[in-house]
Order: sequence, then structure tokens, then C-alpha cells
Amino acid sequence: NRTGKSSLLAAGILASSAASANDDLLITARQIFNPIPSMAPAVKDNPITEEKVILGKTLFFDPRLSASQVISCNTCHNLGTGGVDAGPTSVGHRWQLGSRRAPTVYNAVFNVAQFWDGRAADLKAQASGPVQASIEMNATPARVLDTLNSMTGYVVMFGKAFPKDARPITFDNFAKAIEAFEATLITPGAPFDRYLKGDAYALSDQQKSGLKLFIDKGCASCHSGMNVGGQDYFPFGVVERPAASLLPSDDKGRFAVTKAPGDEYVFRSAPLRNVALRPPYFHSGQVWDLKQAVGVMSEVQLGVKLDDREKDDIVAFLNSLTGQLPKIDYPILPTRTDKTPKPSV
Ligand code: HEM
Ligand code: HEM
Repeated sequence: NRTGKSSLLAAGILASSAASANDDLLITARQIFNPIPSMAPAVKDNPITEEKVILGKTLFFDPRLSASQVISCNTCHNLGTGGVDAGPTSVGHRWQLGSRRAPTVYNAVFNVAQFWDGRAADLKAQASGPVQASIEMNATPARVLDTLNSMTGYVVMFGKAFPKDARPITFDNFAKAIEAFEATLITPGAPFDRYLKGDAYALSDQQKSGLKLFIDKGCASCHSGMNVGGQDYFPFGVVERPAASLLPSDDKGRFAVTKAPGDEYVFRSAPLRNVALRPPYFHSGQVWDLKQAVGVMSEVQLGVKLDDREKDDIVAFLNSLTGQLPKIDYPILPTRTDKTPKPSV
């Protein structure tokens, strides 16, 4: 029967054109994004060893590095909640409220530079900041070194992590150990990574439609590469200035780093890996709903008003960026001694 045959043929043509549209999407996506590798990447001038990673993890979880001995890196970058705190902006020493949202430490190693304004070149440069910041941990390098030297556990761990150094406990080595641990905080295996590696079924149709919109509408021109963002700087508010609650006028972003007039209200494009795990959004942490954040972006960055379905599809795609978080055993911290400085609140 002819009709049967031709409709079969038509269905065949439709199926193959859907398949080639799918192939086209994958080819385009591969030109813009890269999958997260399964192994920790090498970092500059800091070979990653198991001993360094164990030390870095212990330091990351140790609240005694803060003046109050209440706050650790994990307080604001909680590894159980996507590498961020509850928000909106971080609460630090003496309950002081910071002015920016804590960015995630997961996959931070792949960002072009650290902080919303990129003011630290890498994780090592970053790690020496928070312990000293009066609003975060409020310690001094001298106090940190006194604390570390006071505990045999740390003396042994630093010796193992930096076996060639005559005096292994230094502030520089403290930062190197944290950097080595953070380099292991990567989250491979997201549905999107499986898709990029050729598994066409790793994304649902809605997620593929969201990916296509993300590329066609222009989101991918600022959010690309391995972290789907975090690779370059852009004004927050290209077409339209965001509401003052989202873009407080006293935080001029990258301008504070470069002093170039063109850098006023410029921020690092936010890395979108695991974005579904960590509301609230933007450096001000004022948007709790991912769909709303997508709406804000399309309007202020692109001057595009997305309809409800388009926003839902993009959110579905963003959900495919949630990877496998590493299993982290809570470290047993070295025991304090009489010489360990006492908490000061
Ligand atoms: C930024 C790590 C302690 C709040 C960052 C970044 C990293 C990091 C890697 C940059 C991430 C990125 O730009 O993508 C650490 C480590 C800590 C620590 C290793 C312990 C030594 C803290 C504490 C707080 C905090 C205790 C809260 C009181 C923040 C905030 C930012 C940030 C608000 C963004 C600041 C800005 O962009 O100006 N941290 N952090 N961090 N961290 Fe931490
Ligand atoms: C932040 C998505 C287009 C640059 C964000 C965030 C999301 C997002 C969800 C918040 C992430 C977080 O807080 O962790 C999108 C979507 C887009 C889009 C779905 C397309 C509709 C763009 C474009 C640019 C851009 C075209 C550059 C011109 C930025 C920047 C931030 C950001 C600079 C950080 C803003 C801040 O300071 O808080 N994006 N984006 N985005 N995006 Fe986009």
C-alpha cells in the first residue's frame, strides 16, 4: 500500500532530519563548551600530591584558623550545599554581613581568575585572603602560623606535604595546600558532560531545547568553556541596568581592580556549573529562583524577553549542569595544645 509506504518514508525523513538537527546541536555545543575532566587538573608551581590534598582538606575544615575559632572555609563554602553558604551574602566574624554572595569552590580551579571581580589570579592567591579579612575570619598570618605550629598533627602533616622544605609551616605553603585540595573539588559526569562526550540520550528533549535557546539567544556568548562561564568579564547590565537591589551602586565590580572607567559594574560571567544547587543568585545574592535569574539575564544582558516555556527549557538545561560531587570524608582535626591561641570573639 502506497500511502503506508510514503508515510513510512516521510516518518523516516522526519526522524533523520531530527537526528541531524541533534547532531548539529552537539557539534555546535562542542565548539563552545568542554566537559569537566575526571581527574584534578595540574596547577601552576604547585604539584598536587596526596599529602598536600589531605593537609589542604584539614585546613579547609579547621575553624581554629579564624579568630573566633568558629568559622572555617567550609562555613561559607559548605561542601554539602554546593560549595556555598545559605546566603544572600556571607556572614563572617562577629556576625558581620559581607557585601557579596560566596561563589562556589567546586570547579573554581577552572575559572580565569578568582572572585566576582577576578582580583585574585588563582586559588593560591585567593586562599591567603579570607583568613585575614576582618569581616571573614579576622586572623593574621602570624596567628595562623602560631596556631599551626602549636599542634603536632599539623607539624607532621606540613612535613609530609612539603618534604623538601627546611621550615614547612609557612603562610605560602598553607595557601598551596588549600589550593591543592580545591583543585580536587571538581564535579565531572553531569548529564551535559555525558552529552558533550557523545551520549545523545543524556539530555532530555526539553534540556536540548534549552541548550539550543542558551546558544541561539546569546547566553553562550558570555557563559562558555568548561565552567559555562567564569572565563571572562562583562558588564552586569549590558542593555538595561539591573534593579538597584541586584546591582548595588557602591560595588563597582572589576573597576576596583583595574580602575579603567569601562570596567564600572563589570563582573566575571558567573560559572554556571551546579548552578541549580546554589541559590540565591548574582553577586548580591538577591534572586532565589533560577527561572527568575534566567529572566533577569535575558532582559538586562540581551534585551530579550523570553516566554515562560523558553525560561523553563533553559532552566531544564541548567539543571543538566549538575555533576557528581566528590565524596568527602570529614577530617579529624589535629588536637590543640596549651600553646594554641585561644578563641577571641
Ligand atoms: C570567594 C575560598 C573562607 C566568603 C572565594 C573564592 C574561593 C574561596 C576559591 C573564589 C571563588 C570564585 O571566584 O569562583 C575560600 C577558602 C577559605 C574561604 C579557601 C578559607 C581559607 C571564606 C569565609 C567566608 C568566605 C570564611 C565568609 C565569611 C567568600 C565570599 C567570596 C569568596 C563572599 C566572594 C568575594 C568577592 O568576590 O569579593 N572563597 N574561602 N570565604 N569567599 Fe571564600
Ligand atoms: C550571571 C544565566 C546571558 C554575563 C548569571 C547567572 C545566571 C545566568 C543563572 C547567575 C549565576 C550565579 O549567581 O551563580 C544566563 C542566561 C543567559 C545569560 C540564561 C541568557 C538568557 C548572559 C550574557 C552575559 C552574561 C549575554 C554577558 C553579556 C553574566 C554575568 C553574571 C551572570 C557578568 C554575573 C552577574 C553578577 O555580577 O552577579 N547568568 N546568563 N550573561 N551572567 Fe549570565
